[in-house]
Amino acid sequence: MQTDLSNSSLFNHKSVMTDEILFSIDQYPLISNSKVIGIDATLGGGGHSYELLKKYPDLKIIGLDHDPLARKSALNKLEEFKSRIEISPSNFANFKPKEKVSFVIADLGVNSNQIDSPERGFSFQKDGPLDMRMNPSLEITAENLIENLSEKDLADLIFKYGDERLSRKISWKIKKDLKEKGKYSGTKGLAYSIAGCFPPKQRYRKIHPATRTFQALRIAVNKEIESLERFLEIAPDWLLPEGIISIISFHSIEDRLVKNSFKGDERLKNLTKKPIKPKEKEVKNNKRSRSAKLRIAQLNKLKF
Ligand SMILES: C[S@@+](CC[C@H](N)C(=O)[O-])C[C@H]1O[C@@H](n2cnc3c(N)ncnc32)[C@H](O)[C@@H]1O
Repeated sequence: MQTDLSNSSLFNHKSVMTDEILFSIDQYPLISNSKVIGIDATLGGGGHSYELLKKYPDLKIIGLDHDPLARKSALNKLEEFKSRIEISPSNFANFKPKEKVSFVIADLGVNSNQIDSPERGFSFQKDGPLDMRMNPSLEITAENLIENLSEKDLADLIFKYGDERLSRKISWKIKKDLKEKGKYSGTKGLAYSIAGCFPPKQRYRKIHPATRTFQALRIAVNKEIESLERFLEIAPDWLLPEGIISIISFHSIEDRLVKNSFKGDERLKNLTKKPIKPKEKEVKNNKRSRSAKLRIAQLNKLKF
């Protein structure tokens, strides 16, 4: 099964905290009066880049995304700005710009298209292969993890990246069902095994019982924490003096890493003591935004 993106409207990601991202970039002192270059480290559908390119007529953006479908969709969305956008298939953990830039933005995690396309394997609502790779050339899929990790390591992973209290029971059940079946047929089968670990009342709540376990597997498959740690080390070196770095995160492990890095990195001045959260109106219109937290930092001025 392949996702057809010839019609880019199929890519239905709603950008999160766009006004706040624009506000953060306004903190760069030279944003309006010079030709500036910025990096969108998580281009996705190109929503944030679109608004930035529209607002600043001289701005150029280098957009990174390791998902080829996201890059294709962003290319369509940003067609009218094509002379000012350069799209790279890089992982932000390995990127090195040719010259220093005025800002770096990152809006972490998955895009809605990845979640909503069952063939990508992120969804427990619709059946699909147990894949979960944002970058299809990565070697390890969710299925490989489930099959190859020991019951203890799988439980630890579900606890660490999913904050899941029932991690031990879930891991035991996944391994038991796997032994009986020989192989999981897909995401729905896995979600069914996980749901069976919860008392019946909890199985039908607003949040599906498999949510946290699926999040944990996704984070592990895509090495999201390792990538973020590396990105936080290298991204300040991409910036010009007083350049801005703005990061939106969606869960506590990510937010803690960003907070500690912005507070502890001697190269940076932390501009957000507390994270900025989306407005109530946005949360109402886009429930994916409910856990978003934006933190902003600025590279120090040059000292002579
Ligand atoms: C939340 S979406 C970004 C949405 C985008 N800001 C917009 O407004 O359309 C996150 C995107 O980052 C990409 N991504 C996640 N981790 C990445 C990494 N380490 N390197 C490059 N891209 C990454 C995902 O493939 C996904 O498309």
